[in-house]
Amino acid sequence: MKAKTYVIGNFKGGVGKSTAAQMLGFRSAQKGRKTCIIDLDMQGNTSDVCSLTHMNFSSEEGGGDNEGLNFENTVADVLMNEAPLESAIYQVVNNLDIIPANIAFEMYDDWIKENYNSSIDQFKYMERVFAPLFEMYDVIYLDVPPSISVYSKSAMYLADWAIVILQTQVKSMRNAMQYLEYMEFFTEEFDTTLQVAGIIPFMLEASDAVDKEMYENAKEIYGNHLLKTIVLKNARLKRYDGSGITMEKTTKGRLKQWDRKSHELFDSILEELDEHETWYEE
Ligand SMILES: Nc1ncnc2c1ncn2[C@@H]1O[C@H](COP(=O)(O)OP(=O)(O)O)[C@@H](O)[C@H]1O
Ligand SMILES: [Mg+2]
Repeated sequence: MKAKTYVIGNFKGGVGKSTAAQMLGFRSAQKGRKTCIIDLDMQGNTSDVCSLTHMNFSSEEGGGDNEGLNFENTVADVLMNEAPLESAIYQVVNNLDIIPANIAFEMYDDWIKENYNSSIDQFKYMERVFAPLFEMYDVIYLDVPPSISVYSKSAMYLADWAIVILQTQVKSMRNAMQYLEYMEFFTEEFDTTLQVAGIIPFMLEASDAVDKEMYENAKEIYGNHLLKTIVLKNARLKRYDGSGITMEKTTKGRLKQWDRKSHELFDSILEELDEHETWYEE
């Protein structure tokens, strides 16, 4: 069985790609799916959040009991320095692993171009190195930097599915479309199959009338690819960026309200994405 592989796309920064990768990865693992997040962004935001998340969970939960992750090897070591793939796989919590990135990955752009001339050979190289992962996991999420680069293009090549982030603001509405248009060009050019799993609307400005209108516009443009679940401005999600993902319990053992809301939100996104995928089955 080959892992279902997702790229989280949008060529703009700060739109919610990494947040989506982290939360979908976490919820997918909680559902019992063996999940891996590959951080292909040299800024390593998702790697940091995964380390903090590991710290927040007990060892029974697969976490670190207040210890973060110590990333001795990263995706850069695996791809450029022949470090064994397994040496860069770290468990975040049960069922969730991360292959981290850091600034050393910046060199990859030059390195791969020196070693492989054509784009397709560059993509195939990454595919070959990561091949064992497709047998190890049910689901793989690729978190990419905000650019059209060898990083995001390799991810497009590896992925079966794209989850596109749509920022519903007048100026950003076109970004998701840009990504979709590029995807279409890419799949033809490199003869791959990459399907749209769904478009997640992120409304990070207040959910006022303007945003409502934007959602309706988006619905016209993107049709049923656009999820019904909307990610609104959410202080808890914002906080996870600095604290790692948490699942704080009340004294009665129930999940605290703000954690519960954030986790439920991404459960419902997962459900919608799963449903969308069935549309493509014959
Ligand atoms: N729903 C939300 N509400 C408030 N802040 C959010 C929300 N989603 C993401 N953020 C914050 O916005 C910033 C950018 O998000 P991020 O996922 O890192 O974007 P990208 O990966 O596209 O650059 C982060 O600080 C993140 O915590
Ligand atoms: Mg990011």
